[in-house]
Amino acid sequence: MIIKKIIFLFFISFLIVNNNIEKVQSANGYGLINPNATCSPYIGDPIDLRICNGKLDNIYTESGISQKVSLLTLEAAFTKLTFLQTQCPNINFSQFGFCNLLLSPCETVQLPARNISFPKRICKSTCTAIVKECNILSTYFNCTNDNAFPDLYNLYNASAYGFTTNNGFYPIQCENVTDLFIKTPNSQISEVCPPPLLLRNSSDPRYPAEKGYTYLTPTNCVLPCPAPYYTEKKWNQMFTMSKIVSTISFVCCIYNICTFGLLNKSVSKYNYCIVFFSASVALINLMDIVTYAIGYEKLLCPEPGRFAVQDDVACGVTGSLFHFGVTNGVLWWATMAIYLLSVVKRIKMIDFRIFVLFNTVVSLIMLIIPLSGKAIMAGTGSLACWIRKTWYVNGVFWIPLGLCLFIGAGCIILVIFQIYKISKNVSKDRKILKLQIKPFLCVTLVGGSFFYLFVFNFDNERHMDEYKASIPGYVQCLLAGGNQETCVSEGPNFAAYFMFYFFIRLFGILFFCIYGTSENARNIWIHSTLLNHPAIKPFLLKYNIVNYNSVTVFGSGMAATNSKSMTSGKNKTNSGKAIELEINDSVTASKGHTISVSKVDENDDSKSGSGMDTSSDS
Ligand SMILES: *[C@@H]1O[C@H](CO)[C@@H](O)[C@H](O)[C@H]1NC(C)=O
Ligand SMILES: *[C@@H]1O[C@H](CO)[C@@H](O)[C@H](O)[C@H]1NC(C)=O
Ligand SMILES: *[C@@H]1O[C@H](CO)[C@@H](O)[C@H](O)[C@H]1NC(C)=O
Ligand SMILES: *[C@@H]1O[C@H](CO)[C@@H](O)[C@H](O)[C@H]1NC(C)=O
Ligand SMILES: *[C@@H]1O[C@H](CO)[C@@H](O)[C@H](O)[C@H]1NC(C)=O
Ligand SMILES: *[C@@H]1O[C@H](CO)[C@@H](O)[C@H](O)[C@H]1NC(C)=O
Ligand SMILES: *[C@@H]1O[C@H](CO)[C@@H](O)[C@H](O)[C@H]1NC(C)=O
Repeated sequence: MIIKKIIFLFFISFLIVNNNIEKVQSANGYGLINPNATCSPYIGDPIDLRICNGKLDNIYTESGISQKVSLLTLEAAFTKLTFLQTQCPNINFSQFGFCNLLLSPCETVQLPARNISFPKRICKSTCTAIVKECNILSTYFNCTNDNAFPDLYNLYNASAYGFTTNNGFYPIQCENVTDLFIKTPNSQISEVCPPPLLLRNSSDPRYPAEKGYTYLTPTNCVLPCPAPYYTEKKWNQMFTMSKIVSTISFVCCIYNICTFGLLNKSVSKYNYCIVFFSASVALINLMDIVTYAIGYEKLLCPEPGRFAVQDDVACGVTGSLFHFGVTNGVLWWATMAIYLLSVVKRIKMIDFRIFVLFNTVVSLIMLIIPLSGKAIMAGTGSLACWIRKTWYVNGVFWIPLGLCLFIGAGCIILVIFQIYKISKNVSKDRKILKLQIKPFLCVTLVGGSFFYLFVFNFDNERHMDEYKASIPGYVQCLLAGGNQETCVSEGPNFAAYFMFYFFIRLFGILFFCIYGTSENARNIWIHSTLLNHPAIKPFLLKYNIVNYNSVTVFGSGMAATNSKSMTSGKNKTNSGKAIELEINDSVTASKGHTISVSKVDENDDSKSGSGMDTSSDS
């Protein structure tokens, strides 16, 4: 979701922003004298804006028309001029014209009767030059109007004030703005950005684009942070979802790690996969928890208009956590699929430690590459810091993800095929197929979620140009007086984007539902030292919180078998009907080879560990 550089080919219509433009009072082609008008010094630019300072001196002031009102008009005009830079080469010249048009220079003349202040109009030559360079401004600069843009001077009938020469017509020289412009050194363009865009200086070393400012080139306006894809309300929905789902998911992951890793008395390799996957997802969720502990906006947008980059420590750290977690998670998902296949197909597996080593090393390499390329940043529209340079993220995440998905899906299909074959041979019992639903669901849901992320990402990349192209429309909306609520630029579809972030955070919950609530997990807890601790067990029994017998009843002898096998160190053939991951069952039945099969499941937790090894060795 990064917009690295937005270049404007901006065609805005230069509508008259405000009709407060001082009317040139005239009658019969002569200027009308307002005896009450005065010359007063320019009140100066509003705070934080650069408008007419250095371009004006004494201002013709009529009572009832305040400089402040004209300044508002000028601010609106300058805002539009800011975005006309590609269209009009000499905006700085036009800006001199605008200042002198809306705030006329003033000249006080001592007439016989009294002193009179006259406005000095812009010379026609200047007007013509402005319109020639920027035709769109002709609505403001109507050079055919001789009173507003005289050739050399305006005439005023001053006979009422005792002026007699020239038939009582007093000439006021026009203001040669061209001359004024040439004589003003270093007249830079004065840029004004419509809120919520902010003005920064791209050539100032304090505000380089690399630090996370998204300039709307060629202007020095930067996009607000977070990006204007959605309204604030929608961003808040996204933040809230992220908080809730991540917290729940984190707790689920910790539960899974405890259940299958810490409490489990004999951890099977499949259990290790679950533990490693859960730990990876926990890292992802931890990143979210850290993010919202710091505050989304504070972490993603450390300064107004600036998106966090890798050099912002919080962003670098959370981004690395997330990337390591998600890469490792994908690798472990694929490992699980491979493992499942190896068990079902009874293929001898390479040493499990090689998987651990490989997955960790690959995840680290995939992290170091983007870190060295300073590719981690918040991006213009995102919930977290991550790799935002297209080719880095493709190279170290999406392409490997595609590969893992391909391998994983291949294994799963083979597993399903194998199970189907076996179950068909063994019996025509539909029940067996029904029992496959859980592992199938697990793998499909996780794989499907990854697949969704994959598809969404590339679809999003494909539409990036459209999103960029919608920025001018967004600016136009702002220029027309819109605000943050009414103007949004076109971004990824909110629902799709929401789902994207939802799925990334969901894995922990998914694994909890599939493995954490399984019969297997229940057995682990019931046999755990924790629940059997002399200080705890009587208490639990007393209040009937845990039914220590439930397993046997429930699993039709499963628990009993388990405990027996635990002691004997080997699985006895269990009738297996209770086993949730039925792969074992069918396999066992077909091959008459109980031991190896049962380990596959998550269910066989305690017993399978030892059983597993034997099988693979055999
Ligand atoms: C100028 O001011 C005087 C009194 O302050 C008022 O009577 C007169 O109408 C004003 N003239 C104009 C042209 O506004
Ligand atoms: C007119 O202006 C001159 C200076 O330019 C000043 O000396 C004179 O007092 C002014 N007259 C009136 C009536 O304000
Ligand atoms: C420009 O001024 C002339 C004469 O004052 C007028 O007839 C014409 O309509 C004006 N054009 C625009 C575009 O306002
Ligand atoms: C100039 O003003 C005087 C008095 O205000 C008036 O009598 C005369 O007709 C005016 N001249 C023109 C050409 O309008
Ligand atoms: C205005 O100034 C420019 C540059 O000094 C000069 O070329 C031009 O003739 C002047 N125009 C008038 C109307 O005085
Ligand atoms: C502004 O005016 C100067 C001349 O004073 C000119 O050289 C320059 O090209 C103009 N534009 C900008 C963007 O500075
Ligand atoms: C932008 O920064 C450069 C370098 O610090 C400076 O020369 C220039 O005047 C600044 N521009 C504005 C508009 O402040």
